[in-house]
Amino acid sequence: MADYRHFIDLADAGGDAIAAMLEEALTRKEARAGWAKGKADADAPLAGRTLAMIFEKNSTRTRVSFDMAMRQLGGSTIVMDSGSMQLGRGETIADTARVLSRYVDAIMIRTDDHAKILEMAKHATVPVINGLTDHSHPCQIMADLMTVIERGKSLPGLAWAWLGDGNNVLHSIIEAASLMHFSVRVGCPAGYDPSIEVLEAAAKRGATVQIMRDPARAVMDADVVVTDTWVSMGQPHAEEKLAAMAPYQVNAALMGKAAPEAVFLHCLPAHRGEEATDEVLDGPQSAIWDEAENRLHAQKAILLWCLGGLSGE
Ligand code: CP
Ligand code: NVA
Repeated sequence: MADYRHFIDLADAGGDAIAAMLEEALTRKEARAGWAKGKADADAPLAGRTLAMIFEKNSTRTRVSFDMAMRQLGGSTIVMDSGSMQLGRGETIADTARVLSRYVDAIMIRTDDHAKILEMAKHATVPVINGLTDHSHPCQIMADLMTVIERGKSLPGLAWAWLGDGNNVLHSIIEAASLMHFSVRVGCPAGYDPSIEVLEAAAKRGATVQIMRDPARAVMDADVVVTDTWVSMGQPHAEEKLAAMAPYQVNAALMGKAAPEAVFLHCLPAHRGEEATDEVLDGPQSAIWDEAENRLHAQKAILLWCLGGLSGE
C-alpha cells in the first residue's frame, strides 16, 4: 500500500481524518502564536520535502497559504502557472504527473476540470491535492470548519445557510455536512442548484440538505451563514444570472434573520455589493479574515495527512 494519500475531496478522507486534521491545524496554530510568519514550526516535520503547485486559474490565498504552509513545515515549494508549462502546450496530465512525481514529494493543482485532478492522481506516485476545481474546493472548507470551531461552535447539529450560486464551494460544504453531521439550507434561485450527484451522495451518508427558493427561510436562525461569488472563475458573466441572484445577497437585513451569534463566512475574493454588502463583510459577525488565515493552518494539516505525518499517526 502506498504510504501517501491524495486529498481530492472531503468524502475520500472521511470524518475521522477531517477531525484529526482540524485538531492538528488548531494545535499548530496555537503553538506558533506570535511567531514571525516565515519561521518554521519547532518540529519542522516536512524538512527536505517539496510541494509543486500548478495553477490553471488565478489565486491569491491558495497560492500564498500553501507556500507559507510548506515553509512553516520546514519544506519548500515550486509554483507554476500551467500556461508556462508544457502542460499548456498539450503534454498530457498523465505524463506531467509521472514526471513531477520524480522531482517533488507532493503536487497541488488548481484546475478548470475535476477530471484532470482525478487523472493526475491516477498517474502520480506522490500525493495530489485539490486546490480548487470546477467541482469542489475541499481545502477551503477545512479552513471554514476550523474557523467555525474557533468561534466556539461544535460542528455536529449546527445549521449552516448557503446563499447564492450552487457552486464548487457549496459542493464541499455539503460533503463536509454529511461527514461532520451538520445541516445545510441552500437558498438559491432555480437553475443554480448544487449538483444532484453531490446531493444524492450526501443524502446516502445521512446528511440533511434542503434547497429553498426563499432566502429568508434559508437563513432563519442559522448558526453559520456562507456565500461566495455569483460568477465563479471560468463561468460566463451573464446579466441574467446576476439578476436571479440579487435576492440572495447577504445584507444586514438577511443576516439579521440568522441566530444572534451566527458567524458569516466567505471564501474570498468578495465582490463587494454583489453577493454580500460591506456592512456584512466588515461587520461584527464576519469571520472572513480568520477564515482566510486559517487556509494556512488547515493546509499544513492537509499536507501532513497526505504525507503520513499527522501527530499521533
Ligand atoms: N478562497 C480562495 O481559494 O482564494 P484564492 O482564489 O485567492 O486562492
Ligand atoms: N467559486 C469560486 C471560488 C473562488 C475561490 C470560483 O470557483 O471562482
